[in-house]
Amino acid sequence: MKFAIIMAMLSAWAVIVTAHTESTESWITSIWDDFKEAVDCASCQVLLGGLKLVAAFGESFMEDVLIGICDISGAEDSDVCAGVIANEGSAVHYSLTNLEIGSHTAKTFCASLVGLCDYPAIRPYNLTFPVPKPPTSRPPPSGKPAIKVVHFSDTHVDLSYATGSNYDCSKPICCRSYTEEDAPGNTSSPCGEWGNTKCDPPHRLQESMNAAIADLNPAFSIYTGDVVAHDVWLVNKAEALEDFNATYSAMETVGRVYAALGNHDTAPLNLFPSNQLPSEYNPQWAYDALTSNWLALTEIPSIETANQHGSYSAIHPNSNLRIISYNSIFYYKYNFFAYTEPMEHDPSSQFEWLVSELHEAEISNQRVWLISHIPSGNADHFHDHSHYFDQIVQRYEATIAALFFGHTHTDEFQISYSNYSAQNWDTAIAMGYIAPSMTPTSGPPSFRIYDIDPVTFGVLDFTQYIANISDPSYQIQPEWVPYYFAKADYGTKLEFPVTDKYSELTPAFWHNVTVAMENDPALFRDFWARRTRGFQVPECEGDCVSDEICALRGADAQYNCFVEKVGFSFEKRNGIEVEGAKPWKKLQPECNHAGMAPMLAKIAYQASLVRQ
Ligand SMILES: *[C@@H]1O[C@H](CO)[C@@H](O)[C@H](O)[C@H]1NC(C)=O
Ligand SMILES: *[C@@H]1O[C@H](CO)[C@@H](O)[C@H](O)[C@H]1NC(C)=O
Ligand SMILES: *[C@@H]1O[C@H](CO)[C@@H](O)[C@H](O)[C@H]1NC(C)=O
Ligand SMILES: *[C@@H]1O[C@H](CO)[C@@H](O)[C@H](O)[C@H]1NC(C)=O
Ligand SMILES: *[C@@H]1O[C@H](CO)[C@@H](O)[C@H](O)[C@H]1NC(C)=O
Ligand SMILES: *[C@@H]1O[C@H](CO)[C@@H](O)[C@H](O)[C@H]1NC(C)=O
Repeated sequence: MKFAIIMAMLSAWAVIVTAHTESTESWITSIWDDFKEAVDCASCQVLLGGLKLVAAFGESFMEDVLIGICDISGAEDSDVCAGVIANEGSAVHYSLTNLEIGSHTAKTFCASLVGLCDYPAIRPYNLTFPVPKPPTSRPPPSGKPAIKVVHFSDTHVDLSYATGSNYDCSKPICCRSYTEEDAPGNTSSPCGEWGNTKCDPPHRLQESMNAAIADLNPAFSIYTGDVVAHDVWLVNKAEALEDFNATYSAMETVGRVYAALGNHDTAPLNLFPSNQLPSEYNPQWAYDALTSNWLALTEIPSIETANQHGSYSAIHPNSNLRIISYNSIFYYKYNFFAYTEPMEHDPSSQFEWLVSELHEAEISNQRVWLISHIPSGNADHFHDHSHYFDQIVQRYEATIAALFFGHTHTDEFQISYSNYSAQNWDTAIAMGYIAPSMTPTSGPPSFRIYDIDPVTFGVLDFTQYIANISDPSYQIQPEWVPYYFAKADYGTKLEFPVTDKYSELTPAFWHNVTVAMENDPALFRDFWARRTRGFQVPECEGDCVSDEICALRGADAQYNCFVEKVGFSFEKRNGIEVEGAKPWKKLQPECNHAGMAPMLAKIAYQASLVRQ
C-alpha cells in the first residue's frame, strides 16, 4: 500500500517535472535531495523511483545526472566520478530500467548497497539432488606424509606502478604519476621500489613472491583471483587483458596452479550477467582469455569449462581430488546485472552444475575442493544464494574436503553447520579457508602453504608467510618468512589440544578454535591481529568480538551478524564519526572500495552528513 502511494506520487511528480524541464541541472538537484532524504527503506524506494525516471530519459542522460550528483557530493575526484559512471553506466541503466519499486530485488538493492532496508527474508528455493544424502561422513586422515599446497590471492599488480611517485594521492589507489605533482622527483611522499600500503603492488613483488613459493616446492598451488589493479575508473578491456597476461605468465614459474575468477577480472569490474541477459553484456572475452591462461597453468588439456562462464572442474592428475572452481561474482552485491526482476535463483544454472559435479565425485569416491573468489558467507554475498550454496555444501559434506576463498584481503575463515541454531563442534560440517592478499593495502603481502593429506585431501596444517612491508629492510629486498602456524598457534590452545601432525583441521577443530577465542581474549586478539598481519589492527572489544566470532560461524550469510549501515566503509577516509556505525567497522579493509556501487553508497553517506 505504502509503495503504491509512493509510486502514484512519483509519477504525478514526474509529469510535473518533465512538463517543465528535462534539464540535467534540475534532475541533479532533485535526485541529490532524494539522497539527502533517504533515511529508511521507504525513502530509499523513493530515491530508486527518482533514479528510474532519470533512467527513462536514456543512458547518457542518466550518466550525466549521476556524474553531477557524484560531483556535488564530493564522493570522489571528478575524473574518478566520470570514469566509474562511464564504465558501469550501462549496467546500472539496465538494472534501474527493469527494477520494480518495492520488490524483493529493490529491497535487496537498498539493503546491500546503501544499508537502508533490512535484508529481505530468503526466498525459498528447493535444489534437487540426484540421490538422497548417503549415511557417509568425512574419511579419517590416512596417516601418510603430507603434501604441500600453496594458496595465494588478490595479487592486483599495477603495471603502471611508478617507483618514486606520490603514495599520498586523493585517488582510490596511489603510486602513479596522475599529475605532474605526483611524479617521481616532485613529490615529498615517494613510493618505494617494492610497494606501499596505499597502492597496488608493482609486478616485481609478484615475481618475488613467486620465487619464494617455488623455493617451497609445492605439489601445486591455488589462486583465488583478482588479477587486475584498483584503478577501476580507468581499467578497460586492453588493460585487463594485459594484466591477465602479465600475472598469469609470471605464475608459470610456480608450477601447476588452479585459479578462480575474481570480481576485478573483467572491465568494467564486477559485471558478470547470467546467460538470461542480452549477450551484448556478456564478458566472453574475459572468460576466454582467463580460460586459456587457466588451461595452461593446470597443465590439463581436458578440463571441463562449464559453459564458459568462468567456472571449471578438473581432476588433479594421478589423484582422486576433483577441484571445482566456480564463479561467485554471480552472487555479489556489486554485480548490477544480478538485480534482475525477479532475481534469478540459479544464475546460468551454476548451482545445478555444481550439484552434477559433486554427484559425479560422490559416486566416483573422489574428494572435492571448491575454490572461488568471494566467500559464500561474506557480508557482500547475497543471502539467498549463500543459503542455496550452503544447502549444496550440506548435502555433499562428506565429499567436500574443504573450500578456499580470497577477496577480503584479510586472514579469516568460515564454518558451515548442519543446524545454525545449534552451532557446535558436532554440527560443524564444512570449513572455508579465506587467504589474505598479496596486495599490501590491508597488511603485509602474504601467502600460505598447507599440509595436505595425500589420500583424503583434508587440511592437516598451514603456515602463513608474509613479507613485512612495515620493516625498513622490505624496500631493499622483501623477505618472505613464516608468520604463524595453524596447529601450533591454534591447536595447542584448545581444551583438548590438537598437535599430532597427521590429524586433520576439521570443521569441528575450527569450531573449537572459535570456542577457545570466546573463552580466552588473548587468543581472539591473536586471531584479530593476524587478520591484517599486524597492520593497523583496529580495536575490537565486547560486541565486536561476538560479532566477529559470529561471522566466522556464518557460512550461510543470513547468520553472519553483519548489518549494513550507511557510511560503514567511508569513515576512515573522511575521518568522521557516524552515529550508529560500529567503530571497528571503520577499519574493515575490503576489496570493495572502488567502483559504481561503493560510489553510490558513498554518495548516500555524504548526503547523510549534509542532512546532519
Ligand atoms: C520445497 O520442498 C518442500 C518439501 O518437499 C515443499 O514442502 C515446499 O513446498 C517446496 N518449496 C518450494 C518453494 O518449491
Ligand atoms: C614537477 O611539477 C612541475 C609543476 O608543478 C612541472 O612543471 C614539472 O614538469 C614536474 N616535474 C616532473 C619531473 O614531472
Ligand atoms: C604476455 O606476457 C609475456 C611475458 O611477460 C610477454 O612475453 C608476451 O608478449 C605477452 N603477450 C601479450 C599478448 O601481451
Ligand atoms: C536445530 O537446533 C535447535 C536448537 O537446538 C533445535 O530446536 C532444532 O530442532 C534443530 N533442528 C534440526 C533440524 O535438528
Ligand atoms: C613488521 O616490522 C615492524 C617494524 O620493524 C615491526 O614493528 C612489526 O612487529 C613487524 N611485524 C611482524 C608481523 O613481524
Ligand atoms: C572439540 O571439543 C569437544 C569438547 O567440547 C571435543 O569433544 C572434541 O573432540 C573436539 N574436537 C576437535 C576436533 O578438536
